[in-house]
Amino acid sequence: MDLFEYQAKELFAEYGVPVPRGKVAATPEEARAVAEEFAAAGTSRVVVKAQVKTGGRGKAGGVKLANGADEAQAVASEILGMDIKGHTVHRVLVEEGSDIAEEYYFSFLLDRAKRTFLAICSAEGGVEIEEVAATNPDAVAQVEIDALKGAPADVAADIVARGKLPEAAANGAVEVVTKLWDCFVGKDATLVEVNPLILTGDGRVVALDGKVTLDESAEFRQDLESLTFAAEGDPLEVKAKEKGLNYVKLDGEVGIIGNGAGLVMSTLDVVAYAGEAHGNVKPANFLDIGGGASAEVMANGLEIVLGDTDVKSVFVNVFGGITACDAVANGIVSALEMLESRGDDVSKPLVVRLDGNNADLGRKILNDRNHPAVRQVETMDGAAGQAAELAAK
Ligand SMILES: Nc1ncnc2c1ncn2[C@@H]1O[C@H](COP(=O)(O)OP(=O)(O)OP(=O)(O)O)[C@@H](O)[C@H]1O
Ligand SMILES: [Mg+2]
Repeated sequence: MDLFEYQAKELFAEYGVPVPRGKVAATPEEARAVAEEFAAAGTSRVVVKAQVKTGGRGKAGGVKLANGADEAQAVASEILGMDIKGHTVHRVLVEEGSDIAEEYYFSFLLDRAKRTFLAICSAEGGVEIEEVAATNPDAVAQVEIDALKGAPADVAADIVARGKLPEAAANGAVEVVTKLWDCFVGKDATLVEVNPLILTGDGRVVALDGKVTLDESAEFRQDLESLTFAAEGDPLEVKAKEKGLNYVKLDGEVGIIGNGAGLVMSTLDVVAYAGEAHGNVKPANFLDIGGGASAEVMANGLEIVLGDTDVKSVFVNVFGGITACDAVANGIVSALEMLESRGDDVSKPLVVRLDGNNADLGRKILNDRNHPAVRQVETMDGAAGQAAELAAK
């Protein structure tokens, strides 16, 4: 899970990494109030920064200097609502302006290819590090970190020296690096990146930007909930997540429910292909209900997919394994009853393909129930074709 810059900086501050004073604002008026507060404390020069989970904000006009509250408000109203590489700016970080003497680059990351943690450090920061690494690889130090030893002062000093940071910044940088390692480990991060890490005119080393990725597998011991914004995602995805479903909204018309991520992926392909013959209808979502597929999970899945107003037909594609087709068929029947008894609309056509373990029994259960919305097709291609045709009507 990626964090916003201001969240990353809150984590940095928690671990004692120096960051500029700053506050988040969601409206130009709020930005003005923050700037007024800083001005009253003696700093009228502020920087207004778009909070989006993508790089290159500065280049896109999402990072702007402002002198005083009037300007801060004006600049914030320009940045809020801006689209940066497909991300809408809902918030800005209003920060005290720093006196920058030099800009460096530093990060810790999990290098999956090398199966190790890596520190990357360079005296040439502020710009895109990939570019520096490509044009001047000697300027970018990559230091493998022993997971058990971590980055205590001696290791940090070595990293900073190899990154060719100047003497004036060395002590401050070593301190920042050791603290960032504590943050990296303490928060189960897979990336902490500071670009730029700056040396100020008065000799302090400060994290001026922050990019943090947290490992979602560590959710059981980390408070990730407080770092997410439900309102930010697609409403159906948010609802699906609350129900513990693996759901991704797409922009087509054929709702998809399947068991197993691989099967669902190929179902998307098959439906997209079949759709070409029916006015180019496409899959409306990815939804993997997993191996269990109890009535409740099936009901939750149907509720999400049928609740998508773009969906015109639904393709339920199940390959029975440990959870056999009869159990899934019973799940579908109970799910439909559950939704109907709640008054949900279940009239959109449901094309069901059951195959694998106990397929015959599963098909019989659905035939016997004879629900008006449900029709069965025995092959995946056939079912995809029919679902696409029904969606195109
Ligand atoms: N608080 C600040 N005071 C003064 N200058 C700042 C401040 N914050 C940012 N800047 C300047 O703006 C530049 C860009 O800021 P930042 O690195 O946060 O955004 P970015 O690099 O464009 O975004 P991203 O890292 O997402 O690509 C910095 O290199 C620095 O020169
Ligand atoms: Mg940056």
